[in-house]
Amino acid sequence: MPDSTLTATSLSSRTGRVPVVVLPGDGIGPEVVRATRRIVDAAGARIDWHEAEAGAASFAKGVAIGVSQEVLDLVARIGVVLKGPLETPVGFGGKSVNVTLRNLFEMFGNVRPVKEIPGIATPFSGRGVDMIVVRENVEDLYAGIEHMQTPGVAQSLKLVTQKGCDRIIRLAFEVAKSEGRKRVTVVTKANIMKLSEGLMKRRFEAIAPEYPGIAADHLIVDNAAHQMVIRPEKLDVLVTTNLFGDILSDLAAGLVGGLGVAPSANIGERVSMFEAVHGSAPDIAGKNIANPTAMLLAATMMLRHVGQAAEAQAVERALFAVLKAGKTLTGDLAGRAGVKPSSTSAFADAVIAALDPVSPDVAAKATALAVPKVDPSPVAGTPKSRQVVGIDVFVEGVGPAEKLGPAMEAAAQGTGFTLKMISNRGAQVYPATAPLEDVVDHWRCRVLGPAQDDAKVAALLAKVSAVRPWMHLEKLQDFDGAPAYSKAQGEA
Ligand code: NAI
Repeated sequence: MPDSTLTATSLSSRTGRVPVVVLPGDGIGPEVVRATRRIVDAAGARIDWHEAEAGAASFAKGVAIGVSQEVLDLVARIGVVLKGPLETPVGFGGKSVNVTLRNLFEMFGNVRPVKEIPGIATPFSGRGVDMIVVRENVEDLYAGIEHMQTPGVAQSLKLVTQKGCDRIIRLAFEVAKSEGRKRVTVVTKANIMKLSEGLMKRRFEAIAPEYPGIAADHLIVDNAAHQMVIRPEKLDVLVTTNLFGDILSDLAAGLVGGLGVAPSANIGERVSMFEAVHGSAPDIAGKNIANPTAMLLAATMMLRHVGQAAEAQAVERALFAVLKAGKTLTGDLAGRAGVKPSSTSAFADAVIAALDPVSPDVAAKATALAVPKVDPSPVAGTPKSRQVVGIDVFVEGVGPAEKLGPAMEAAAQGTGFTLKMISNRGAQVYPATAPLEDVVDHWRCRVLGPAQDDAKVAALLAKVSAVRPWMHLEKLQDFDGAPAYSKAQGEA
């Protein structure tokens, strides 16, 4: 265990060496991590490795979350982690340690570089694919706030915050800066989700001018998926919300050879963790045949993160030279190349033999990634005026709209509220705009009136309940005179 007063920053400034927690993990983890450490050390990287345990071995010892408090303390103190794949326990209820680590240390950004790898043939080989996908990692639909509204209608809350947007957008620009990239593209569905996805787009437009050397633009997510396949070489840095990032980063990995060769970084203000995208591959574990490429590329991201870009470049060049030569390849690639498979350790030896001295030019320019810090206040943006102008009350029932509408109008009478409209799955059905026969038992009744008065809302709800049971209520607010809620399709 290291001296508890030492942190990554204090140690690196005193000795030029950077402490890193290494979690070899499960399955093939120890094999690919061992190969990676040997190569990184041979390249002259100044890393002090602090090996620790997490995953299956910890679960087996009865550590309920698969990582002990002692290891969590070490991670918190050192702040940089190189992690092998960790098995998600099946059958005894344990949670994924990967997710636990990401959440405990609020690693809000997932960064996935996607670059053509020499010697790994794909339908896109030779096109020069070289993009970085920066994915928001903690918000959006992953908050997992879900409710069955009726027995047949499920709801999932998509939470997007200004704070969350600001830090992922700034991270994308900082990544672009540190990697010498020219353009950052924000990917959203702001055309449909004008408030949640729209917040991401608006914050991007507000922040982009702070990075004048980097071009900034926007793509709608469906077009982004299309562009990634049609013209992937044109894309540079992409930043997006959690679910879209989940999908697009796997799509991107597929362009250059799949998840087996893809590295990723989880970035937080206090802790950043670097890993391969693949899992523990139990089918080939312990045989010294796994491909360490993804883990090694994760280590190059880690080296750049701690300001050792020249060592990262040396490792990457040697790796690419070995892959391009196509003589020493692990079993997953050897067959396609028509050569005899080499072991994990023989592959590592070949990479070490291919290492050139680090470039002094790159070393001189190397700077650690500046992880953006955002205002820790939970409140972002205070409108000068805000007003509650009504409520959306969601009721259950079979309809039809032409009966529910007058019944709701009658319920609102004498309460100070008036029914504006009723929608079903987002489309206005009362007053009818177009014939809509395909409805479900979940109706949104938009009622305008004195909703700032809780007693009046309660009186209205009592009368609504007499018509249909309600299960969900939303306040309609105006911020600075503008509606802070969306309209139904067809709503005037
Ligand atoms: P997997 O990625 O471990 O394996 C899928 C296939 O790819 C297998 O045939 C495997 O042999 C092959 N493969 C993976 N990495 C390879 C490498 N470096 N060299 C050669 N072949 C390789 O995915 P699977 O089987 O779905 O998951 C196994 C375990 O890993 C599960 O417990 C899962 O929860 C965990 N996992 C952990 C991750 C992490 O720690 N970030 C990510 C994904 C899965």
